[in-house]
Order: sequence, then structure tokens, then C-alpha cells
Amino acid sequence: MNVVIFGTGYVGLVSGACLAEVGHDVVCVDIDAAKVEGLNRGVIPIYEPGLEATVAGCHASGHLKFTTDAAAAIAHGELIFIAVGTPPDEDGSADLQYVLAVARTIGQCLDKAAIVVNKSTVPVGTADKVRDAIAAELAARGIELPFDVVSNPEFLKEGDAINDFMRPDRIVIGADSSLAVEKLRHLYAPFNRNHDRLVVMDVRSAELTKYAANAMLATKISFMNEIANIAERVGADVEMVRQGIGSDPRIGWHFIYPGAGYGGSCFPKDVQALARTAQQMGYDARLLNAVEAVNESQKGHLFELIERHYRGALAGKTFAVWGLAFKPNTDDMRAASSQALLAKLWATGAKVRAYDPEARHEARRIFGERSDLELCDSAQAALQGADALVVVTEWKQFRSPDFLNLQIVLADRVIFDGRNIYQPQEIEAMGFSYYGIGRGR
Ligand code: UGA
Repeated sequence: MNVVIFGTGYVGLVSGACLAEVGHDVVCVDIDAAKVEGLNRGVIPIYEPGLEATVAGCHASGHLKFTTDAAAAIAHGELIFIAVGTPPDEDGSADLQYVLAVARTIGQCLDKAAIVVNKSTVPVGTADKVRDAIAAELAARGIELPFDVVSNPEFLKEGDAINDFMRPDRIVIGADSSLAVEKLRHLYAPFNRNHDRLVVMDVRSAELTKYAANAMLATKISFMNEIANIAERVGADVEMVRQGIGSDPRIGWHFIYPGAGYGGSCFPKDVQALARTAQQMGYDARLLNAVEAVNESQKGHLFELIERHYRGALAGKTFAVWGLAFKPNTDDMRAASSQALLAKLWATGAKVRAYDPEARHEARRIFGERSDLELCDSAQAALQGADALVVVTEWKQFRSPDFLNLQIVLADRVIFDGRNIYQPQEIEAMGFSYYGIGRGR
């Protein structure tokens, strides 16, 4: 099928590459000319395992093209996806300016019947706004054309995005036209084998489904962080508690890992946006507000442990920080716990030597050059001259460090483990002080 995708961010680029990979003809549109030019040369602006190879293959086969020319792209497509960002505005609501700008562009260029598919995470009711924006532009041109607006939220995770798109556990389609549903069923047929993964519903329910999924996952994490905080106070180990509850299939093993708080471009913004939507409708979403509040304070928890250990005397100390990305296998630092930690450390006069396998460039972009930050080329280099080690992101390569070496290089022999990747007893037996999350045993 001929597909157009507006936006070459995470969702747009991964969706475009995966749809092209199975043989659809995809044109990705972005207003950022430098990005488009880079993509046409095979430069992928984000780190996502497997994406570069997939894009290169589809580009070479001619199934995937990148352009800034919206009109030409719209002429190409029978399915037009909107996959642009919906950043939070000042009060936490989703800012729809980019989505609606694309809708207006579609209305200005459309010259045949089309199905407009919204993949961006957008508040309930946005499909109506998109429909109105397209209709207004068509009317201004004196043209009448049939078009549908469908909600088809995306559930892919950064770091595993290709796999999530290629092997979805569900494909949610919110539509009020059977033609649109059939077209999308056809589009997704290569990803919909063995059993039917399509969940078809009305547009508003599909829009809410996306927020409900992310809010549920964020709730599980905040819940576990709350249990961790209780565990610290009552002398229990939350890792034991996690194992004790995860085996109950009604609870499950996923998303019950306590840690330094959830980050990324989705959970923080989506929980807030859903709470604001509720508020606008006169409903106080107490649980969602609590999920967000617990997460905000959890992002400060590692620092509290550090401050407690050093009794507030942090000025002049140097911390090796392992992990800056909001989670492993990505270079994304949006709303990452590392940002909160570094800001607090710097405010005390402490210095940071940081290492992340992928996010060093992003860290340089965010923090710039500063005398209290050394971005190091290896985990080992970050330890040189450090007093203590802080693990913020659980990259695999941090799981089994050379502890003998750590004993030698870490002046204060203390490890702050923000993701509970080490065994406290083992670490303490080697003569380190150990602080994890919720490990009050
Ligand atoms: C999340 C959802 O998992 C995807 O299903 C969704 O499509 C995506 O948002 C989106 O809306 O676009 P993502 O933000 O890439 O995906 O990352 P996750 O793997 O969900 O992790 C989010 C944060 O939660 C990370 O900071 C991670 O460290 C934290 N986390 C996750 C925990 O603290 N504990 C856990 O048990 C799991």
C-alpha cells in the first residue's frame, strides 16, 4: 500500500521502516530539512538497535523515502499517518500544535479520498480536531472530499522498538468507518499472523487506550517505588518482595522493578496529560496525581541516600555516574533520573565523572561544557579519581564490574545502586558500603 508518515521521530521512523520492510511503499515527511537530508544519506538521528540496518535496507529497495515535500507525499498516499510529537505545554496538557499543523497541511494538499491515521499520543477528542482542521482547509479551497480520521496508537518501547512493531501484542484501531478498518487490516496483515491482534473500537476509546496503557505501567512502577520506600523504613528488602509478588499472574513480573524513577518521553508526559484531561472534565484523578508525585520524589531518592551517607558534606567529592539515558539501549535522556541527580550533586559542589554507552553526545548537548562534569569514554575511565560509584541506568555492561578494581579506585568504597543490579551481601562482603533502592534489610 502507499503510505505517508508525517514525523520522523521515534514512532514515525520506526513505523515507516517496519512498514517498508514488509513491502509497503512509504514516504516519510519531516519539516526538518537537515534531518531529511541526513536520513537520505543513511544517518539515523536516534540510537535504536536494528533501526539503521532496517532503514538502509528499505531505502536501497526503494520502499522507503524521506522528503520535506508534503504536497508530493500526500499525492502518493492512500493512508496518511500523523506521527509528530505532542510535548507537554506549561500545565502538562499535550500540546497539539504539531498535530494540527500537519492536519492543516493535509487539508491544503489533499486531492483524493484518504484515510488519516493518528499515531501520535493525543488526548481524547483530538481526532475530531484533526477532522475539523482538514475539513476547514478543504472548505477554504472549495473542495469536498471524503476522508476518515482514525486513531491507531503505538505501543513500541525505545530500545526494542523494531521488535515491538514487528511482533505487536495488539494493534488498536479506533475508527468509525468499516472501510478504514479494512484498509488498516490490510496494512497490518504481515504483522497480524497466527491469531487476530486487531482490537477495533471507536475513536475516543482508542485514544484513551493509549493513555490508560502507559498510566497503568507507570502506576505499577510508582507502586513498587512506594513499597521500596516502606521497605527501607521497616527493614525489608523490596527485591525479595518483588519476587514474592511477581509470580502471581494477576500481578506479573513486568514493570514492578523499583528504581530511580521512570523517565523518557512517554510516561511522565502521558500520566500528566491524562490527569489534566480529567481535570478539564471536572474530575480529580487522585491516583494519577499520586503516581506522578511518587515518581517526582523518587527521582530525588538516590541523591538523598548519597546525602545521608556523607551527612551532607558533598562539596569537593567526585562521583562516578554509570548510566545517563532514561533506560538501557537508548541514547534518550528526556526526563531521565540522571538529570535530576546531576543537578542536585552539582548544587552541593560535588563533581561528576559520567559514562553512558550511548548518551554521551546527548549529555553534552544538554549540559554543555562545565568544569564539574567529565563525560568519560568508558565505565573504567569514569572511576578514575572518583570517591563513590552511582549506578543510574542498568545497562548490561554495568552488571558484573571488576570489583577488585573498584576496591582499589573508589576512594570511599561506596556504591549507590539506583537500579538494584547488585547483591548487597556480596558487595558488603567485599568491604564496600552499599545503598540500593528499598533494601532496608
Ligand atoms: C513506554 C511504554 O512501555 C511503551 O509501551 C509505549 O509505547 C511508550 O512508552 C510510548 O508511549 O511511546 P518507553 O518510554 O520507551 O516505553 O520505556 P519503558 O521501557 O516503558 O520504560 C519507561 C521508564 O520506566 C524507564 O525510565 C524505566 O527505567 C522505568 N521502569 C520500567 C522502571 O523504573 N521499572 C520498571 O519495572 C519498568
